[in-house]
Amino acid sequence: MFTADRLGKVPPYLFMTLRNKINSAKAAGIDVISLAIGDPVDPTPEPVVEALAHAARDKANHRYPTDEEWGMLAFREAVARWYDRRYGVGLDPKSEIIALIGSKEGCHHFALGVVNPGDLVLVTDPGYPGYKPSIWFVGAEPWPVPMRAENQFLPKLSDIPSDVARRARAFYLNYPNNPTGAVATRAFLDELVAFARQYDIAICYDNPYSEVVFGTERLSFLNADGAKDVGVELNSLSKPYNMTGWRIGMASGNPEIIRAIAASKSNTDSGVFNAVQYAGIKALDQCDGFIDEMLKVYGARRDKVLTTLRELGWNFDVPKGTFYLWVPVPAGYTSAGFCDFVFDKAAVVLAPGAAYGENGEGYVRFSLTVEDERLDEALERLRATIGKQTF
Ligand SMILES: Cc1ncc(COP(=O)(O)O)c(C=O)c1O
Repeated sequence: MFTADRLGKVPPYLFMTLRNKINSAKAAGIDVISLAIGDPVDPTPEPVVEALAHAARDKANHRYPTDEEWGMLAFREAVARWYDRRYGVGLDPKSEIIALIGSKEGCHHFALGVVNPGDLVLVTDPGYPGYKPSIWFVGAEPWPVPMRAENQFLPKLSDIPSDVARRARAFYLNYPNNPTGAVATRAFLDELVAFARQYDIAICYDNPYSEVVFGTERLSFLNADGAKDVGVELNSLSKPYNMTGWRIGMASGNPEIIRAIAASKSNTDSGVFNAVQYAGIKALDQCDGFIDEMLKVYGARRDKVLTTLRELGWNFDVPKGTFYLWVPVPAGYTSAGFCDFVFDKAAVVLAPGAAYGENGEGYVRFSLTVEDERLDEALERLRATIGKQTF
């Protein structure tokens, strides 16, 4: 049997590789602690679970969720209320919002709906590993835009060569940023809109961590004047409400891009299970307090990891977003080499920065989505094995 050439470009998905490594170690009787993947272990809010259970008992919800092609209007209205309340952004639920099966699939349909074969697509480096495959699958080429610590991990748009910008069709980026934890500023968002306008580039602003910020304002791309003219924001219930397994999110913004995403989706999937959409409405309308509680949990975990790293000699600026910490590796290590060292000596799994792109070399990513006791144990092991570093 043969498979498509396009698969040859796509490396195995980072977390599948890590998962295999973890499972083999576990099978060999090793007590592995993974601080690699960003998948909350804490439960979804109870009222959301109740809403799902209730809606799942209604046979009207057992049918294809395709009566309303872009997701239930009631869900899209809840998204509009949420954006208005949390970000002060006004959206028309009928033309500017579509339900997604998570933001990851939104990235893919954005490419299918907006990008042509042979196009260039800008993508931050380091960047979320989901973007490049979406670009390759539509026969386009990613063009990495470096993000560096000296620029607070924001891309320097003026450094993108103008011939590249002219050829680029789209730009994928996300702030609060996975993997670096960096947050955007209003000034950067204005600059991004102006850049997109100048070169006629469609922005795919992937914002699933919009709620996960510490001591700084929550920002949507749609807060920038003119954002709706040049792009869409993808968002998700996965991270703010511990709903990664539920597969529900939304794309909002430019009506033409929303229509393009809808054209791709309606020929691919049949939408989000209505019962999950009802549960999503409950989360969006009634769980603001839950987000505050989770931020306290992540804030405490963040402090613990930073305290340990400082005790061990680390000293670096800590960005204010996401439940990740992007940590420079000690001198003499590559990112993969340091991950291997920590895995071999402490059975702790970290995500190697180089897996997020060339500019991720020299860093590892810690995720704070692990139970408190396991995090304490992981930090104990790191103290015992790494020893004090000099930077
Ligand atoms: C930047 C980014 N985009 C998208 C996703 C996927 O989110 P969802 O669960 O909504 O598909 C993730 C998950 O880690 C992410 O980090």
